[in-house]
Amino acid sequence: MTRTSRFWGIVPAAGVGKRMQSDRPKQYLELAGTPVIEHTLTRLLSTGIFEAIAVAVSTEDPYWPDLKISRHPAIVTTPGGKERADSVLSGLNSLRDRATDEDWVLVHDAARPCITAEDMNKLIDHLTAEDVGGILALPSHDTLKHVRENRIAGTLDRSHVWRALTPQMFRYGLLKKALEAAQGNPAVTDEASALELAGFHPRIVEGRPDNIKITRPEDLALAQFYLEQQ
Ligand code: CTP
Ligand code: MG
Repeated sequence: MTRTSRFWGIVPAAGVGKRMQSDRPKQYLELAGTPVIEHTLTRLLSTGIFEAIAVAVSTEDPYWPDLKISRHPAIVTTPGGKERADSVLSGLNSLRDRATDEDWVLVHDAARPCITAEDMNKLIDHLTAEDVGGILALPSHDTLKHVRENRIAGTLDRSHVWRALTPQMFRYGLLKKALEAAQGNPAVTDEASALELAGFHPRIVEGRPDNIKITRPEDLALAQFYLEQQ
C-alpha cells in the first residue's frame, strides 16, 4: 500500500515509575541487556515511517543523555510535563514548525517495549482513511466489577469494554487542539480521552496482547519472555 501521508512519533518518557519501585524510572531499566526505552525507540525507528520521533523526558533526567539513541538524527528531545498529557503536548509543540495539521501522529508509551511492526502497520492500515484516528486496544477477557469501598457495586458489560493500548494515532492538528482544550483535566489519561471530550469517537483496532506496559516489578520478566517469543 502506498502511503502519501506523513507520520510523526511521540514517546512520552517523563514518568517516574512509582509503581515499579525501582532505583530509576522504569524506561531505563535493563531488559535483555538494553534499556527499555531503547527497545521501544528501536522498534519505532525500524518501521522507517516516521519523519521524526519526539521523546519527552524530564529536565532532571540524567539517564537519557547517556543513551546513544538520544542523538539519533530522527530523535527530537523535548521536556516532559507534570502529567502524561503535558508530556505529549510538549512533544507536539516541538514538531510545530515541521508538521501540518493533516499529518498523522502516533503516540506510544516508552514503557511498551514489545510493540511490533505488525501492530503499527495494522493500526495505520485501518486508520488512514479516517478523519480523526484511533487506538490499539484489547477486548477484556475477565469479568469486570465496578467497586466502591471494597464492595462490588455492579458488573460492567464486558462485551463493550476494551483496554486502551498505544500507539494511539491521530491527526496532528486535531490532537493538539484536543489536548490543549483538556489541559489540567485528570480524566485525560490517554490521547483518545482528549478527543472523546472534544466530541469525537476514535476507532478501535485490536492489538496484540504482548504489547504490555511495564508497570509493576513482575512485568519486566514478562516483557523479556515476550521479546524472546517474538
Ligand atoms: N509519562 C510522561 N510524563 C508524565 C507521566 C508519564 O511522559 N508526567 C510517560 C511515562 O514515562 C510512560 C507513559 O507516560 O512511558 C505511561 O505512563 P505510566 O505507565 O503511568 O508511567 P509512570 O507515570 O512513570 O509510572 P507510575 O504511574 O507508576 O508512576
Ligand atoms: Mg503514571
